[in-house]
Amino acid sequence: MNTQFMQSTVGQEFAMRKDFLHISDLSPAETQDLLDLAISLKKEYVEGGNPPVLKGKVLGMIFQKPSLRTRVSFDMAMRHLGGDALYLSPAEIGLGKRESIADVARVLSGYVHGIMARVFDHEHILELANWASVPVINGLSDYNHPCQALADALTIQEKFGKAKGLNVTYIGDGNNVAVSLMHVCAKLGWNFTIANPVGYEITPHAVEIARQITQETGAEISFFNNPHDAVKGADVIYTDTWTSMGQEEETAKREADFASYQVNDQLVSEANRDAIVMHCLPAHRNHEITDEVADGPRSVLFPQAHNRLHAQKAILARAFGVA
Ligand code: CP
Ligand code: NVA
Repeated sequence: MNTQFMQSTVGQEFAMRKDFLHISDLSPAETQDLLDLAISLKKEYVEGGNPPVLKGKVLGMIFQKPSLRTRVSFDMAMRHLGGDALYLSPAEIGLGKRESIADVARVLSGYVHGIMARVFDHEHILELANWASVPVINGLSDYNHPCQALADALTIQEKFGKAKGLNVTYIGDGNNVAVSLMHVCAKLGWNFTIANPVGYEITPHAVEIARQITQETGAEISFFNNPHDAVKGADVIYTDTWTSMGQEEETAKREADFASYQVNDQLVSEANRDAIVMHCLPAHRNHEITDEVADGPRSVLFPQAHNRLHAQKAILARAFGVA
């Protein structure tokens, strides 16, 4: 694996270029600041609409993988802020196949004012950002999903406020969603716990970054294999698909390996009484989460999905330098 991104200087790139590539590029104060902006943009929208601060701006959206939430919420966020978005499908762009990433980045930078990209290889989003002269937003890579984490933190703060020391427990695969959730929790002073089967751990590099953040914020990071141990004292139970996009050939093995990691009524009953249940979606119902839990009283799945719109507006406003 090319480890170039592991040496990126925390905070510097974002400050200079207004890219949004990793939660770990933000300071704890910048993370909360972005959330506060999302809250105010949401309030403004609900109370009558956002002013057209992005009038004349166009976001180019590159997708190497399918999407419902990321695609539609970025498109609608741009429209609500007076701008426009251009969807570029895998077939159209052929990122790194039909044309090199460096060339795509430099060509697009002359046509659009910002780029949002969903890629497989994390190096590809970094390469795009390296060559683009316009801001680049990471709409999910195999390594992380920072836009999701920001919306997740917004949803958690709407429920529990900004107090530090909340217990956020993730059950399942140590994947892209888990990485960014761990980092946003660490930034905000929330304790992050994960229970995963052996062999499905969060990458050590991401854990090391989280540990560095917790030295500043006092959050705790804990690791379990037994989901029942992990949910004790949880304020938030979070899960995601057992098989991420690009891993489809592993589906049968993963279904077997994760069989005892389902978020069901029994597991939820072992958490705190007012615990909420989250999932980034799309959900594979009655696999990683049961219908009863997904549609039950603890579930915040749909407010969480809707918060992608508001979190994205904050990311866009900062990327375009209008807030
Ligand atoms: N949660 C999320 O990113 O959903 P999509 O894959 O539909 O964008
Ligand atoms: N871990 C999932 C998240 C989808 C939003 C995937 O990468 O497919």
